[in-house]
Amino acid sequence: MTISKHSSFLWGVSTSAFQIEGQINNDITVWESLGYFRNNGEDPIYNRAADHWNRWESDFVLLKELNLNSYRFSVEWARIEPERGKFDQSALDQYVRMVDRLLELGIQPMLTLHHFTHPTWFHEATPWHSPESVEAFARFTAKVVESLGDRVNLYVTINEPMVWLLAGYLDAKFPPGKRDVHLLADSLYNMLLAHARAYDIIKSANPNAEVGIANNFIVFKSAHKWNPLDKKIKRLIHSFYNMCIVDAFHENVVRIKFPFIMDYHKPIALDNKIDFWGVNYYYRMHVRFKLSVKYPFELFFRDRSGSGFTDLGWEIYARGLGKVLNWLEPTGKPIYVTENGIATQDDTRRLEYMTQHLSILEDSIRRNPQVRGYYYWSLIDNYEWLVGYKARFGLYEVDYENGLKRTLRPSGRFFGDYIRNLNTGHSET
Ligand code: FCB
Repeated sequence: MTISKHSSFLWGVSTSAFQIEGQINNDITVWESLGYFRNNGEDPIYNRAADHWNRWESDFVLLKELNLNSYRFSVEWARIEPERGKFDQSALDQYVRMVDRLLELGIQPMLTLHHFTHPTWFHEATPWHSPESVEAFARFTAKVVESLGDRVNLYVTINEPMVWLLAGYLDAKFPPGKRDVHLLADSLYNMLLAHARAYDIIKSANPNAEVGIANNFIVFKSAHKWNPLDKKIKRLIHSFYNMCIVDAFHENVVRIKFPFIMDYHKPIALDNKIDFWGVNYYYRMHVRFKLSVKYPFELFFRDRSGSGFTDLGWEIYARGLGKVLNWLEPTGKPIYVTENGIATQDDTRRLEYMTQHLSILEDSIRRNPQVRGYYYWSLIDNYEWLVGYKARFGLYEVDYENGLKRTLRPSGRFFGDYIRNLNTGHSET
């Protein structure tokens, strides 16, 4: 492997507060208590998660053991503002201690403000489809930045807006559980405005900060090359799911065009307020046209590349990472791979997955100096949305039966060695 030594390249892992901290009351735990996540006895019961809220200090040692120079994590809005307008300084203070410790360890924090969850009051009081959401998010951001502003230089305002919007406003799998494309479009609009407000707030506290959004990108492939309808549908889905947000920053317009379903076109003053694109890349999906009452298409996984599926049934398709990075090159913005990882009980598969994806990443770095960092998802096993604890994404195993003990997996050792070898200029492959 021949990537030249990039001292400024960020090598990290990603987590989110809710998925590891434990003992949180938010919109998701309210839904859990109402039984909305029940699924054939496989209920994802939240509870302690990985108890990171109490174990963060020893967990940060794990980051060091992996030779990382960056760590992406999120703050839990529900801890910080448990009641509307009432902020819990002790929660903020703990996040400050965490950031300070990372800096002492020489690990650059990348902080996510919104990673899917909300305080319990949010959807009633200021739901994303209402303009008040923008103010609510701005006030929360201002509070976080007041404490952390000049210590953190990398901010992700919102993680995967599309994934969250589809779950909350189309599939009704997440609170607020709506099925309404018009509310979805309004919510997207408000989220982007909220990002722009947060951008200004962060920049005025810390002009050196870089502020971005982490999008989930899926490589869509038409099921039948010969079928023009498959191709047409694939193009429409791609431009909505992958490019709508990116284009909005470029054009100052939120545009969603889907024949017979939606034609949304609304100017928005984003004014290029984005310093980087975060790429969360996991898989490819196949698309075919299908006449049905709900949507005119079907999306599915298929093992076309021969690399198999993850434990969550996702197709492993490493070349897709390179494609996504290429899509973003014309934006001229720096790019961080903010998430990439595999759920598997079989760690040799994780090793294969990482080898394949890192090799694609190396090609992209060589071709495109805008690619500035890579964060594996995730440091430790954690709570996976809608699934619970059986999806194992961690470089460290968490033993849920034995006091949540963390154990380094061979894939974790591999990643740590890989980074160390880059830093020392040794290469093994
Ligand atoms: C992403 C989410 C992240 C995690 C991974 C597996 O879509 O951002 O929280 O659940 O999937």
